[in-house]
Amino acid sequence: MLQKLKELENEARLKVKNAESLEALKEIKIHILGKKGELTTLLRSLAALDPEERPKVGSAANALRLELEKLFISKEQVLLDQSRGDKWSIEQIDITLPGRQASLGQKHPLTLITDEIKEIFIGLGFQVAHGPEIESDYYNYEALNFPADHPARDMQDSFYITPQYLLRTHTSPVQIRVMEKLAPALPVRIIAPGKVFRRDDDATHSPMFHQVEGLAVDRDITFADLKGTLLLFAREMFGPEQKIRLRPSFFPFTEPSAEVDISCIICEGEGCRVCSDTGWLEILGAGMVHPRVLEIAGYDPKQVTGFAFGMGVERIAMLKYGIADLRLFFTNDLRFLKQFV
Ligand code: PHE
Repeated sequence: MLQKLKELENEARLKVKNAESLEALKEIKIHILGKKGELTTLLRSLAALDPEERPKVGSAANALRLELEKLFISKEQVLLDQSRGDKWSIEQIDITLPGRQASLGQKHPLTLITDEIKEIFIGLGFQVAHGPEIESDYYNYEALNFPADHPARDMQDSFYITPQYLLRTHTSPVQIRVMEKLAPALPVRIIAPGKVFRRDDDATHSPMFHQVEGLAVDRDITFADLKGTLLLFAREMFGPEQKIRLRPSFFPFTEPSAEVDISCIICEGEGCRVCSDTGWLEILGAGMVHPRVLEIAGYDPKQVTGFAFGMGVERIAMLKYGIADLRLFFTNDLRFLKQFV
């Protein structure tokens, strides 16, 4: 009987050693340790033995069972590790494959246009200035000569944070901030690009949009300088044939003031749907800096004059790229954004 156990052990060890898969190992285990397995059957036949022999064979058989169980567990571990290793080797990087192109971002169309505007004015000797988007009532209105009861101060078209602070409704407050800093030094020649906020929302208005402010202050600056600068800008931006037209207008911080149109870039002045048959498209507001504003900001209006303008970046981008709906700029549709390089 002990001899039989020994044989069983040898056979089991050999089979386990040669087992090549977890499934095969499981088979072998059932075959030996299962309910109808060889060792189990052998144990059952203990009953037929001499009462003296029984304990000896019994404990040897039990020891063998424990031994074999351990053997199965360790082999199982080996096979598991192996199968993981195989998987790992399959998943390893194939260095012969062509590389995957990382998709690079690109500039937003409004950034492209802003960069272009900056380039043009930097070329004319302007420097780029910035101001805060949360602005005080003083810089946004008061110092720009808006009378206390001016409708533009109304809660209806501004986003107030407190009665004293609001999201700036235009980039013109940067005019004051720059002059305050520089006065009485001359000349002042800056542009100020940035976000502005108004309570407007439709196909041609967004509650947040972008402007580029311009300001030049020096001795003997005239309206002709303003007009010449804007004509040069229009030609650089839209082509050498561009014409501009100035219409009288009103802003509290400029006198005289003008709305500036460019000849329609679609029909070249003939009249079409885009320009509502007028042949002209409005792109900015401008004027000569109001003497009061110069004074408030620290310059002597008897000694110096200046011009200022403010253009809508979205407006210019829509004209230049032929975009009909301004909201496209802000809905982050990659199919739209990827068209601009
Ligand atoms: N700030 C004005 C606006 O937003 C534009 C402007 C700027 C007009 C500078 C005159 C001079 O409408």
